[in-house]
Amino acid sequence: MSQSLQEIKTYYDNHITGKLKGFVEGNLRIECAWQTIEKWMPKNPQRILEVGCGIGDICWRMTRRWPESEVVGLDISSKSLQIAQQLFSSPRLSFVEGTLGESVVTGKFDLIVLMDVYEHIAVADRPTLHQTLREVRSDQGRIILSFPTPRHLALLRQHQPDQIQPVDENVNVATILALAEDTDTQILLYQEVDVWHEGDYAHAVLGKRDGWVTATNSFSANSRGIKRRIRQLLLDKTQPLIPPRSQRLALVHERLGSEAYPNRNNI
Ligand SMILES: C[S@@+](CC[C@H](N)C(=O)[O-])C[C@H]1O[C@@H](n2cnc3c(N)ncnc32)[C@H](O)[C@@H]1O
Repeated sequence: MSQSLQEIKTYYDNHITGKLKGFVEGNLRIECAWQTIEKWMPKNPQRILEVGCGIGDICWRMTRRWPESEVVGLDISSKSLQIAQQLFSSPRLSFVEGTLGESVVTGKFDLIVLMDVYEHIAVADRPTLHQTLREVRSDQGRIILSFPTPRHLALLRQHQPDQIQPVDENVNVATILALAEDTDTQILLYQEVDVWHEGDYAHAVLGKRDGWVTATNSFSANSRGIKRRIRQLLLDKTQPLIPPRSQRLALVHERLGSEAYPNRNNI
């Protein structure tokens, strides 16, 4: 085990109480990330992997939320995993000690969660992690990450240096783009969220969109849907920014002449 990994393991072996507090009292960071997980979860997940599962509370929640699924929690902190095993036993839930790059998990996963973990992986270890993520992601599989923004880490370094952990790397859009390229996925979501401070965390979802699938919302479901939505948007009399169609048409005719856009009245 590399020195940085050993330091991280020791740190988390010694910080169990904080994780138990989060489980018992609740943790806003986790609840924010959970909303993204629920929203971006692939349909009917059969197998779920949480990398850096800590004491396993989110793994446990996932077994309850998706009762058909098998959930595997992976962590390097043996103390955290001991607690996880004591607290949350289920035939559909297992905990494995190690890093993802060590091939300690096998098979494919429909959801891979890294909640506040990626930033604790040394930059030198990223290529191995990416390679393994690529191998274990199923065809429909999604990778969902939450991590502090570089700006938030910089403020922590300045104001609360005791909160910085042995490995706390910056993760930004370029990092996530590299992860997407290495895992042969696309970035489906990259979003800063406000947990305790404005833009202190970011969520990213990676996966694949298949083909040229028609959107199912009323905005673009079909040409009639588009027209209806445009009507709603542009002909709404309460819309303060855009004048009614008659005035828009009058403006075009006044400035450009009526031949520029004849009055078709067809939308
Ligand atoms: C900040 S904690 C997050 C725990 C939990 N996911 C949460 O959101 O509360 C980071 C966890 O990742 C684990 N970890 C760090 N590096 C790891 C690695 N390379 N492989 C697996 N787990 C790792 C740590 O032991 C720790 O439990």
